[in-house]
Amino acid sequence: MTAQLFSPITIGGLEFPNRIAVAPMCQYSADDGSASDWHLQQWMMYALTGAGMVTMEMTDVERRGRISHGCLGLYSDHNEAAAKRTLDAARRVAQPGTRFGVQLAHAGRKASCQRPWEGGGPLRAGQDPWQTVSASAVPFAEGWHTPHPMTEEEIHALIGHFVKSAHRAERAGFDFIEIHAAHGYLLHQFISPLSNHRKDEWGGTLKNRVRLASEIVKAVKNAVPNMMVGARISVTDWVDGGLTVEEGVEVAQALEEAGVAYLCCSSGGNSPLQQIATGPGYQVHLAEAVKRAVTIPVRAVGMIDDARQAEEIIADDRADMVALARAILSDPRWPWRAAATLGVEIKSAPQLARSTSLMKKWVGAE
Ligand SMILES: Cc1cc2nc3c(=O)[nH]c(=O)nc-3n(C[C@H](O)[C@H](O)[C@H](O)COP(=O)(O)O)c2cc1C
Repeated sequence: MTAQLFSPITIGGLEFPNRIAVAPMCQYSADDGSASDWHLQQWMMYALTGAGMVTMEMTDVERRGRISHGCLGLYSDHNEAAAKRTLDAARRVAQPGTRFGVQLAHAGRKASCQRPWEGGGPLRAGQDPWQTVSASAVPFAEGWHTPHPMTEEEIHALIGHFVKSAHRAERAGFDFIEIHAAHGYLLHQFISPLSNHRKDEWGGTLKNRVRLASEIVKAVKNAVPNMMVGARISVTDWVDGGLTVEEGVEVAQALEEAGVAYLCCSSGGNSPLQQIATGPGYQVHLAEAVKRAVTIPVRAVGMIDDARQAEEIIADDRADMVALARAILSDPRWPWRAAATLGVEIKSAPQLARSTSLMKKWVGAE
């Protein structure tokens, strides 16, 4: 049987063995931005999932761009060396054809926060908080840090930080870069009218609001022409007066024009007032809307955790890839299980080959 989920795809010149991606997932376990032993086990685990595309967690381009004290960064030589060491180890055990990328980001007004398991709110006095930055001096919610609105010089410096981190990502050995313009982090804060009240060329019209993300894409592509560069966007804010799906589609088109090779279509994250109707595949329609408006591959994400559901999304041409986050945390062998469910044989490491008959039994395929 052929399954579209296990068909290869080439994105920006980079070939992926199947349509399954590990979605980026913050682990809040770094040491001043550097990957730790936790990352070593996590990246090696991702390498063996069988997902063709592995996107490492939100990795910040400057120290003050971290969500928490535990967030990963690529802003120092030490960060770069730790990422390289960790990635090299993951590559040595990876399933054939696995491609590794890193999500470059800046948290903006959602920086200086506690780790989720410490509460997740803004850092308090005594917890080493720092001054956050954003498009405008609008806090994420009541009681959150009021960000400092970025000056023209700071905006240009930020583009430079993305370029520097892209060089570090290339030297560390990543295959691709994903620019994080979703989930209410800095680039989304510029894109959304909820958080961008600027009157200069970085605010106002949608064209102006998406300028920062577009300039970063162009600068990064220019800096690392041999790397594939994609982006993740929030297609809608799910808030009255926020970014609409129609505008989200325009953001996608602007980023395609700037040169991204793929778009991952997520949503929300920029307001506590968001009203999201969640459920299986609740964001797939957003990927579909973007797919109809661009020519580059589109990745769907959000409560995709069933092999047949994932297969249908690809076979019905609603998206070109699916990204899984929580399903991979729960079952790092999800892609193997999906292959067994869909009757596809995938090559596994010989050390693990004796597990496949049991996997088939569990999914009722034998
Ligand atoms: C533990 C955890 C960490 C996450 N960290 C990130 C991140 O670093 N960058 C990002 O874009 N999304 C992040 N997300 C969101 C996921 O990538 C994904 O979009 C979301 O969980 C919906 O997919 P799912 O239903 O398959 O979990 C995170 C999600 C989880 C559960």
